[in-house]
Amino acid sequence: MALLRALLLALVVPIVRVKAYDNGLAITPQMGWNTWNHFGCDISESTILNAAKAMIAKNLTSLGYEYVIMDDCWHAPARDAATGAPVADPQKFPNGIKALSDEIHALGLKFGIYSDAGRYTCGGRFGSLDHEDIDAKTYAEWGVDYLTLEYDNCFNEGRAGTPKLSFDRYAKMSDALNATRRPILYSLCNWGEDGPWNFASTIANSWRISGDIMDTFDRFDDRCPCTSVIDCKLPGFQCAMARIIDFAAPVGQKAHAGAWNDLDMLEVGNGGMTHDEYVTHFTFWSILKSPLILGNDVTNMSADTLEIITNKAIIDINQDSAGSPANRRWKRSVQGGGDLSLWSGSLVNNRFIIALLNTSPSQQTVDVDFTDVFVDQGKVYQHQAYSISDLWQKDASGNWGKPLGTFQGSLKKVVIGPHQTKIWMAIPAS
Ligand SMILES: *[C@@H]1O[C@H](CO)[C@@H](O)[C@H](O)[C@H]1NC(C)=O
Ligand SMILES: *[C@@H]1O[C@H](CO)[C@@H](O)[C@H](O)[C@H]1NC(C)=O
Ligand SMILES: *[C@@H]1O[C@H](CO)[C@@H](O)[C@H](O)[C@H]1NC(C)=O
Repeated sequence: MALLRALLLALVVPIVRVKAYDNGLAITPQMGWNTWNHFGCDISESTILNAAKAMIAKNLTSLGYEYVIMDDCWHAPARDAATGAPVADPQKFPNGIKALSDEIHALGLKFGIYSDAGRYTCGGRFGSLDHEDIDAKTYAEWGVDYLTLEYDNCFNEGRAGTPKLSFDRYAKMSDALNATRRPILYSLCNWGEDGPWNFASTIANSWRISGDIMDTFDRFDDRCPCTSVIDCKLPGFQCAMARIIDFAAPVGQKAHAGAWNDLDMLEVGNGGMTHDEYVTHFTFWSILKSPLILGNDVTNMSADTLEIITNKAIIDINQDSAGSPANRRWKRSVQGGGDLSLWSGSLVNNRFIIALLNTSPSQQTVDVDFTDVFVDQGKVYQHQAYSISDLWQKDASGNWGKPLGTFQGSLKKVVIGPHQTKIWMAIPAS
């Protein structure tokens, strides 16, 4: 596996077109698990170790889920008075963070931590603003491999509002991490303020594009007021899952190896959505090349949850080495609310994906026209025949991807239920 990764790295790095944060990490979107969406502040050493063990027992690690990330609320009330170094809550982490990280490493996994780019964390603990060097140094000593799904933006004291202000604030941590000489994946979160897709790719491995996700399909909430992330002045939080898909549509063009749009941590398995809605959630996070960071209780999952997060055909699209997010080809309003949209994208080895999303509350019948699917590839691609498989059905040997036959020109009369996603792999037939 390590050798394979090294080979892949050697193959992929030279073809990266755009400069990425130069730490060699997140060549494909990072995968793992984070405490926040399910446990919030109710975390301890055992919460994190139990999750790591469950990830192995449930075979999630063999699919690529490798980072175990401790989110907010690990902190003691104050930094070390003498050195200014961060200190962990001695009740929650009686053996300290280094011991926890050693155990995670002994299990063959990687360890992540959260901090905040403000004076305080969003949970009211001490943040890293103006403490970047001592924090990065301490994290490296603790054996941290990932900072953080939420290098967050609470209490930034006005050091935002222009791309330059945001860049400078987040670049300080980037430099501090680099100075430790430990490769630490840097996941930047400023909720999309000042357009991180334009300024963050040289200083971070991923950047959040919007306000925090809410475990609901499409409920509008005034605390997530923007209708687009371009020029959004107040990203907020409580953003419904389907709204984040909408937000991500225009910024896919900015992602590449080592530099990804982060659509926020997954809610699959947390109970706020139906099976079809979680399938939509997992599919779109994959095809838009978001990091896939589980946010459920992996020690206590239903068979349905496990099946969704282990669909290898969908994960393979996320991890495809072309690193090219799917694009939306059209979006049509449906009478009665919601819309239908067609997405497509290309993978390595001349393979393509086609996805259809129905956010409306009613069943729809749709013709998928290949002139739309292959608008970027041109006439030859629009007119040739494809072997098509459905990636949410299994083939005769039980693998994801049921062959549906050969199609030319279109997929006719596709029936798609409310809040469903259909996704197909298309491979030229000749
Ligand atoms: C630090 O930055 C240099 C120059 O960009 C890069 O070559 C090196 O790999 C980085 N090291 C780490 C540990 O990120
Ligand atoms: C775990 O996943 C690997 C890779 O997908 C597979 O080869 C193996 O059979 C799986 N093991 C179990 C117990 O499911
Ligand atoms: C496990 O999940 C079920 C279903 O969501 C829940 O009722 C139960 O309380 C959970 N058990 C634990 C130990 O968290």
